[in-house]
Amino acid sequence: MFKTKALKLATLAVVIGSSLTFSSFAAATTEIKAAFNQSNQHPQFIALEAFGKKLNEQTDGRYKLTVYPNELLGDQRASLELVQNGAIQMAMVANPLIENYDKTFRVIGMPYIYSGPEHQEKVFTSGTLDPLFSSTTKFGFEVLTAYTAGARSMYTKHAPVENIAAMKGQKIRVMQSDTMIKMLSCMGGTGVPMGQGEVYTAIQQGVLDGAENNEITYSDLKQYEVAPYFTATRHLMVPDLLVASSYFMSTMSKEDQATFKRLAKESTPMQFKAWNNRIEVAKKSAQEKGATFTEVDTKPFQASCNKLQAELIETPEQKALFNKIVSMQ
Ligand code: GCU
Repeated sequence: MFKTKALKLATLAVVIGSSLTFSSFAAATTEIKAAFNQSNQHPQFIALEAFGKKLNEQTDGRYKLTVYPNELLGDQRASLELVQNGAIQMAMVANPLIENYDKTFRVIGMPYIYSGPEHQEKVFTSGTLDPLFSSTTKFGFEVLTAYTAGARSMYTKHAPVENIAAMKGQKIRVMQSDTMIKMLSCMGGTGVPMGQGEVYTAIQQGVLDGAENNEITYSDLKQYEVAPYFTATRHLMVPDLLVASSYFMSTMSKEDQATFKRLAKESTPMQFKAWNNRIEVAKKSAQEKGATFTEVDTKPFQASCNKLQAELIETPEQKALFNKIVSMQ
């Protein structure tokens, strides 16, 4: 599925190397390299390409965006570090990765905080998250906008997870943050943090009993081949965040920076549309290859996460953000 680690490292060296050579003589067009960990069919890739095209047009060709899919520029944790130190200009990373820098981000990726896609889109496009997003410049990157990654559910190797009791003893891969590990233990299983690129093999080799993700990633990465039981727990709607290097942004003119930020925000509604168009197709394709989709009563799963919500909100600022999001339902 993904390239081997050695090949990926070699590609990364060439890409970053070429960027240095390029910037040393180029005047007219600046290339923006964006890291993406999934395929070029993914709705986020499509939205990023559309964003890049508009940016190129509206800056009269001064910027050209190239999106590198399939973890070619490293997994999300590594690519975020590359953005931070200015080696690449942008990356799409899941919210839990940013939470590692600022705990307030936990709030926007809490289990069951959004009632559904409409609520989530309203929150992402309302401007409510702007102060939080611009607060990360102190870490060397800025969050430009949030994209949807749908709702995440459990998928397992041996049988559907039909209730909380069935979670007991299950080793489930989670994204790399403490919140994700805690969430899994509240639900009764064991969370094993790792990058997306390692999940298929880890399930295949029995290191994991399963993972949790949305239908599109499940289907695109063919994870149904190793974990055919997808149970619709819909326990998380974790935002994916489009981040840009603060160093890179400081090299832009004020006007170009404003265009860059505006177009990033404008790409969010379009990305929600692309997501909605793709979801049933992804599900059907996994079903045709043998995946079983099971609906469950999500209430007990939600209840198991309640104490975690209380535990994760530590400051008045976080509480206010939580209440604001909930009030937008
Ligand atoms: C989703 C999300 C990605 C994330 C992935 C994961 O697919 O869109 O940003 O990397 O889950 O579980 O790692």
